[in-house]
Amino acid sequence: MNVMQQGIRASITQLIDLTCWNKWNYQGRRAILSARFYARGRKSSSSRWLRRQRDDPYVKKAMELGYRSRSAFKLLEMDKKFKIFKKGDIVIDIGASPGSWTQVALDKTGKRGLVMAVDIRGMKSVGEAMIFDHMDFGVPSTHTFIQNMLVNSKADVIMSDMSPNVAGSPKFDHQAIMTQALCALKFTFANLVYNGTFICKMFHGSDEGLFKDMLKQNYHRINEFKPAASRSESNEFYYICRHRKYYRKPSKEERENADLIWQYPI
Ligand SMILES: C[S@@+](CC[C@H](N)C(=O)[O-])C[C@H]1O[C@@H](n2cnc3c(N)ncnc32)[C@H](O)[C@@H]1O
Repeated sequence: MNVMQQGIRASITQLIDLTCWNKWNYQGRRAILSARFYARGRKSSSSRWLRRQRDDPYVKKAMELGYRSRSAFKLLEMDKKFKIFKKGDIVIDIGASPGSWTQVALDKTGKRGLVMAVDIRGMKSVGEAMIFDHMDFGVPSTHTFIQNMLVNSKADVIMSDMSPNVAGSPKFDHQAIMTQALCALKFTFANLVYNGTFICKMFHGSDEGLFKDMLKQNYHRINEFKPAASRSESNEFYYICRHRKYYRKPSKEERENADLIWQYPI
């Protein structure tokens, strides 16, 4: 019995212990049946995941080239198409763990570049990149912290690959990523150079238009891009925004929309 099977068996036993005082009564039988069903579901979804990883050419390629995840190829594709990085750029990588985008950014910006990687989870060091892990980008204090680290400079590229723990409900996942995307957009207002690039991950959903309107208020050029390395069954795509608009007094509607940024539930 492997570790996963042991884990599943332990959770079944726990479930049975918790739910039935007499395993032969009606409730107990129901608990046993549902636990079996649950275990079967878990087993098949994890073996599906393993099979998918094994057969995925990007996973193999990432392992060969030493990237921490297959996501590296999404950014490489974006860079090839939109010419994002230059040597010496300052890059802020939001939602960076395990670090394959950080690896790509370090490589593209060279020795003179500076890459800052932020993630709510732990993250192992990547070359010369500055790692700020265990930091939630959804709270203003993280923004202030990163801004202070930039001293008086601004970033040339701000990229957010932040994504919530997908719950499997497209509506819920969309709302969750909207919150994250809005936080990343808000950060760009004060911290991105005018000719810089903002890359932002999004899931298709009902508020996509609202977010795009906000991008349009702030950038002249916005491209929506689904890299070939992004799984076809995934709802994700990326906005690549360039040429920030110069500051002008926002309209009442824009101010209200901007207020929405911190009103979104985290
Ligand atoms: C798809 S992964 C990023 C993969 C990464 N770009 C790479 O190439 O290795 C999404 C990341 O977003 C992070 N994340 C989610 N919510 C966050 C938050 N509020 N603040 C910072 N990071 C967050 C997750 O911890 C996760 O590591």
